[in-house]
Amino acid sequence: MKILVTGAAGFIASHVADAYVNAGHEVVIMDDLSRGSKKNTNPRARFYQYDIRDRETVENIFLQEKPAIVNHHAAQMDVRRGVREPLFDAQVNILGSLNLIEAAVAHGAKRFIYAATAGAGYGEPKHMPVPEDYPINPITPYGISKHTVEHYLFTFQCLYGLQYVVLRYGNVFGPRQSSQGEAGVFAIFSEQMMSGRQPVIYGDGQKVRDYVYVSDVVAANIAALARGTNEIFNIGSGVATPDLEVFERVRDLLGKSVQPRYLPRRPGEIDRICLDISKAARLLGWVPQVTLADGARRTVKYFQETASSAATTASAVV
Ligand SMILES: NC(=O)c1ccc[n+]([C@@H]2O[C@H](COP(=O)([O-])OP(=O)(O)OC[C@H]3O[C@@H](n4cnc5c(N)ncnc54)[C@H](O)[C@@H]3O)[C@@H](O)[C@H]2O)c1
Repeated sequence: MKILVTGAAGFIASHVADAYVNAGHEVVIMDDLSRGSKKNTNPRARFYQYDIRDRETVENIFLQEKPAIVNHHAAQMDVRRGVREPLFDAQVNILGSLNLIEAAVAHGAKRFIYAATAGAGYGEPKHMPVPEDYPINPITPYGISKHTVEHYLFTFQCLYGLQYVVLRYGNVFGPRQSSQGEAGVFAIFSEQMMSGRQPVIYGDGQKVRDYVYVSDVVAANIAALARGTNEIFNIGSGVATPDLEVFERVRDLLGKSVQPRYLPRRPGEIDRICLDISKAARLLGWVPQVTLADGARRTVKYFQETASSAATTASAVV
C-alpha cells in the first residue's frame, strides 16, 4: 500500500515510516524540517520537504502520489510556543491538518491515521485512569488545536466516508527524541546529565505522566492500518510515573550522583495523567510491550552512543 507519512523526519513518525517500509509498504514522507532532521528519514521512502500549510504543494503531492493511507504526525508540538503564539499553533495544527484531510478526500485516500494527544487534551483529570470518553478540557492552545482535528475527521467521515483512526498518545519516549523540545524529558535529562549540567524539575517531582515507549506507539500505528476504523484510542502504558522517578532512572543508568534543581511549575502543565488503555487492547489488539525500565535503558543507551559518536567526529575534525 502507498502511505503518506507526515512529520517523518521527526521523532515518532520516523520510526513509523521505518516500520511501514520494513512491512513492504511504499512510503512517501512530507516534512518541512522545521524541527526534524533529514537523517531520520528512511532512505527507501520518497521525501518531500514541504510545509503542510502550503495548499498548492499538498495538492500536487496528492495528485502525483495518490496515497491510499495518510498517517499524519507533522505538527507544531511545542506546548510553550503554542501558549506564546496561538495563531501559529492553529495555522499548523488545524489549517495544515485540514489541508491534508481535504486533499485525502479529493484524491481518494481511504484512511487517515492521526497522531493526537491525550496529555494535553483531557486537562487536569478528576479521576484516573482516564478513558477516551472523558471530557476534553485542554488548558493550552496546543491541546485545543490537536483536539480540533479529531472533530474534522469525524465530520469528514460523515460527509465523505473518509475512514479515520485517532491515536491519542501519552508521553512518548525513545531514540531520536529531541532534547530541544519540552516533551522529551528522557532526552532532556540524559543530555543535561551527560554534559555535566544540573537538570531542572518543574514542580516538586511528584507530577505524574503516562510514558509509552516509541516501539509500542509504532505497533499501534501498524495495527491502525487495518483495525480500529473510525475510533479514538488512548495509547499509553496505563502506568502513572512521577517526574522524580524518570530523573532517578536516567541518573542511575548514567551512573551519576547529581540532584535535581526544583523550579516552580509552569502554567499550562497538568499535575497528573494516566490513561485507560483497555479500548486499544479490545479493538486494535494492541497492548504495550516495553516496560519503563527497559525503555529507559534503551533510550539512555541511544543518547550515550549518539554523544560518543559526536565526540569521535569532533575529535577527528580537530
Ligand atoms: N512526543 C510526544 O510525547 C507526543 C505526545 C502526544 C502527541 N504527539 C504528537 O505526535 C506527533 C509527532 O510528535 P514528535 O514528538 O515526533 O515531534 P517532532 O517535532 O519530533 O516531529 C514533528 C515533525 O513535524 C515536522 N513539522 C512541523 N511543522 C511542520 C509543517 N508545518 N509542515 C511539515 N512538517 C512539519 C517537524 O519538522 C518534525 O519533523 C505530533 O503530531 C505530536 O503532536 C507527540
